[in-house]
Amino acid sequence: MKGVVLAGGKGSRLSPLTRVTNKHLLPVYDRPMIFYPIQTLVDAGIRDIIVVTGGQNSGDFLRLLSNGKDFDLRRIHYTYQEGEGGIADALRLAEPFVEGEKICVVLGDNIIENNICASKIAFDKQEKGAHIILKEVPDPERFGCPEISDGRILGIEEKPKVPKSNFAVTGIYFYDATVFEKIGRTKPSWRNELEITDVNNMYLHEGTLTHSLLDGWWTDAGTFESLLRATNLAAETGANKMPGRGAPPRQLKHAE
Ligand code: G1P
Repeated sequence: MKGVVLAGGKGSRLSPLTRVTNKHLLPVYDRPMIFYPIQTLVDAGIRDIIVVTGGQNSGDFLRLLSNGKDFDLRRIHYTYQEGEGGIADALRLAEPFVEGEKICVVLGDNIIENNICASKIAFDKQEKGAHIILKEVPDPERFGCPEISDGRILGIEEKPKVPKSNFAVTGIYFYDATVFEKIGRTKPSWRNELEITDVNNMYLHEGTLTHSLLDGWWTDAGTFESLLRATNLAAETGANKMPGRGAPPRQLKHAE
């Protein structure tokens, strides 16, 4: 399985923090935001990774991540998104890298307390289709939100005014290679983006969408409130914990 980290976009909800840099390079506690989603993939045993970036500061990703030595990787792939067409549009750029394999996609601002190993194992056993990870949240109207009945997803709505459940679809997705053909069938939404929720609904209608619930905390970091929350959670309880080894070693030493 290959990994895709989506780190493009304007980060306009974080302006002026994002006026001169990319959102995913901003600090979350003791490391740049993008370190967390890369660690999530590496912890799940996914080591063949592409970073989709864009904008004026894309060169900084290469300077920051280089060949991935902070993650004990030998190389990282990069690709560049022209303009801002949304998550599904950014994912499309990974197609030549994926070469027909299954993928795990992590949004560059999604940070988790633990790991996604159980979901990865579930998707490994799935012959085709997609697998999404849900988390109960107090503010489902901010996210992709599923309608659930008897443990089955009936549909997913993007930022519904009246949410049909208390769950968010997290920004961690497992797909087979038909995802690219599905992206090709999506149309721009009201926010003029190709929505990943439309892609997930295509899998749902095809009968090949499965899901699991995430254990431990999850947050995005794309607004001032969620960036602060991410920083506090990472500092207080640690992120990307693995059974038996706790949080990964910190790269930086802190002054007392
Ligand atoms: C995106 C997706 C949404 C998902 C969220 C997770 O929202 O569109 O479905 O729940 O990421 O972080 P956005 O960050 O573009 O508002």
